This record gives sequence, structure tokens and C-alpha cells, in this order.
Amino acid sequence: MLRKRTAIVLSLLATVITITSATMPEKAEEKPEYKNLKVLPKNISHEELDKVMKHYNNALGVRCNFCHAPNKNGEKGLDFASDEKEEKTIARNMMKMTNKLNQKYFGTEKKVHNQAVMEVSCNTCHRGKAHPEG
Ligand code: HEC
Ligand code: HEC
Repeated sequence: MLRKRTAIVLSLLATVITITSATMPEKAEEKPEYKNLKVLPKNISHEELDKVMKHYNNALGVRCNFCHAPNKNGEKGLDFASDEKEEKTIARNMMKMTNKLNQKYFGTEKKVHNQAVMEVSCNTCHRGKAHPEG
């Protein structure tokens, strides 16, 4: 008798589990907003990425199109994911260098793209110019 009840309870449980897992929405697909991040965290928020990019503009005294190539599909604007411009590749190396300076010599561990915790930033050298003076 007890066995039978246990069996019923178990099969009920199994049914409930099957139904819930079938009706629960799939865990929101991890769909990163950005397509081609190699240095910044892939899950960086829109707000944070914006801050980082604006820092680059200010530190180098340039606009977004200094590093980002124009759209190829005839539409206006920039293709931010494209790596066509050499300046973007240089900027990535500069990011890695700046991260390393912060981590290795200033002990800044996390979120080195975050200006608030960075000791050395692009502006430390660039001071509003694309080519820092020698
Ligand atoms: C000094 C160069 C530089 C400037 C100026 C710059 N960016 Fe970027 N941007 C980069 C680099 C480098 C990356 C890729 C970072 C990585 O690989 O983690 C990037 C990535 C991005 C991405 C992510 C694209 C994707 O899908 O992967 C967006 C969006 C973006 N930038 C927007 C902007 C905007 C808007 C501006 C102007 C306000 C700007 N950038 C100015 C260098 C620059
Ligand atoms: C330790 C100093 C230093 C730091 C920090 C630094 N840079 Fe530079 N960067 C330079 C120097 C020096 C040059 C010039 C090299 C040359 O003229 O050949 C340069 C050149 C560049 C160029 C190429 C400019 C051109 O016209 O070709 C880009 C793009 C750039 N830096 C982006 C950045 C970004 C973005 C950051 C922050 C993530 C950064 N740099 C941090 C020293 C620095």
C-alpha cells in the first residue's frame, strides 16, 4: 500500500516537472549586444561601453570615425563591429597595454576598462591628442 502511494506521488511529481520544464521559457538566450569585443567584457552594458568609447574620443581628441569604418551597405553611419581600420587594431593593443600597466604596476585587478578605478588611462599619455608628443 505504502509502495503504491509512493509510486503515485513519484509519477505525479514527474508529470509536474515535465509540464513545468516544457512551459517555462528557455533561459533567455545569452545574446550579447556586441559582436566583436576581444578586450572588453563581452557582456558589457550599453551604458558602460558608451562611457569607454567617449573616453577614447576625449583622450585622443577624435571622433568615433577615427577608429570605426563607415557602413558598407550604403547606409549612413559606422560599422562598429568592423575591424577594417588600423586605428581600431592599434587601439585594442593600447587597451591591452593600458590594462597591463594597471594590473601589473598598480594592482588594479578588475574592470580595468572602468575609468573610475584605472590609474593609467588613455588620457595619461594622449592628453587629447591622437599622437602623444615625444
Ligand atoms: C581610439 C579608437 C576608438 C574610438 C575613438 C572609438 N572606438 Fe569604439 N571601439 C574601439 C575598439 C578597439 C573596439 C573593440 C573593443 C574590443 O575588442 O574589446 C570598439 C568597439 C565598439 C563597439 C562594439 C562593436 C561590436 O559590435 O563589437 C561600439 C558599438 C563602439 N565601439 C562604438 C563607438 C562609438 C559610438 C564611438 C564614439 C563615441 C567610438 N566607438 C569611438 C575603438 C574606438
Ligand atoms: C603609456 C602611454 C600610452 C597610453 C596609456 C596609451 N597610449 Fe595610445 N599611443 C601612445 C603613443 C606614444 C602613440 C604614438 C605611437 C606612434 O606615433 O607611432 C600612441 C598611438 C595611439 C594610436 C594610433 C594613433 C594614430 O594616429 O595612428 C591609437 C589609436 C591609440 N594610441 C589609442 C589609445 C587608446 C584607446 C588608449 C587607452 C586604452 C591608449 N592609446 C593609451 C601612448 C599611449
